[in-house]
Amino acid sequence: MKKIVIFGAGNLGGVLASELSEKNEIIGFLDNNESLWGSKVGGVEVLGGVSKLKELIYDEIVIASTMRFDEIRESLLEEGISDDKFNKEIQNRLLVEVQARVNFLRDFASIHQEEDMSVCVAEGGVFQGMFAREINTRFPQHKLYLFDTFEGFNKKDVEVETEQGYSKVKENYYSETSEEIVLKKMPNREQVVIRKGFFPDTLVGLEEERFLFVNLDFDLYAPTLDGLRFFYPRMVSGSVILIHDYFTQFYHGVAKAVSVFEEELGKKLVRLPIGDGISIAIAIM
Ligand SMILES: C[S@@+](CC[C@H](N)C(=O)[O-])C[C@H]1O[C@@H](n2cnc3c(N)ncnc32)[C@H](O)[C@@H]1O
Repeated sequence: MKKIVIFGAGNLGGVLASELSEKNEIIGFLDNNESLWGSKVGGVEVLGGVSKLKELIYDEIVIASTMRFDEIRESLLEEGISDDKFNKEIQNRLLVEVQARVNFLRDFASIHQEEDMSVCVAEGGVFQGMFAREINTRFPQHKLYLFDTFEGFNKKDVEVETEQGYSKVKENYYSETSEEIVLKKMPNREQVVIRKGFFPDTLVGLEEERFLFVNLDFDLYAPTLDGLRFFYPRMVSGSVILIHDYFTQFYHGVAKAVSVFEEELGKKLVRLPIGDGISIAIAIM
């Protein structure tokens, strides 16, 4: 039985802890977010941040994050943690998930190079711009709209999640970002238009735009539904709306939003799984 430390005390950390605890001993969580220290996830304590590792006796570290994976790994290596301490199986699984989505985008973009350049691409839910960078790389000639509060989840959305039991998210989760952090990552910055603020309020003035590729990655019911309502009628033929977290167990609101939208539309959406185990692509005919 291995002694495991899980870095990342969010939803994914909780899911990985229950999976790993069948055959291992989870000695605790670590997280950079100090407000979580001392709290418990599934009965296991959040012991502190990176520096706490020195005091612990453990066999392996599991990084429970895809979006912050590189950043966390770097900080652990800087702390002198050796590479063999990282659990490679989970690490590879998470990387494969991210890679499948990136490959989908790459291949979709490669068959749409001849499109009208006045058609736009967009992402709703940007955080630090990991996937936005991929969109901007693959569609260098298309205007890229990016929608985020850049202050994390909004109170209004979190209330809906809690009342309806869609998820256990907290207000301001994902607040460690800014427009500058995102813009710095963009290889074709001149194409990027940032719409900062509460979505869907930030859509004003875009009614006449048309879209070729949209990634909805808000995690939550309300903005996902609002995103579908706005973008679907503005998608060109052969385009795609990618919906992240459609299959994610701890974000029930996303799949619910797709079903509600389908009912509103009064016809079946073409839902295509993309092979990452998380997302679906809605194909627009
Ligand atoms: C999972 S993160 C996005 C991850 C990102 N796509 C990536 O590649 O790393 C979800 C983001 O959605 C944003 N968000 C959620 N609800 C929102 C709303 N109503 N308006 C604006 N942004 C919202 C959050 O601020 C957060 O940054």
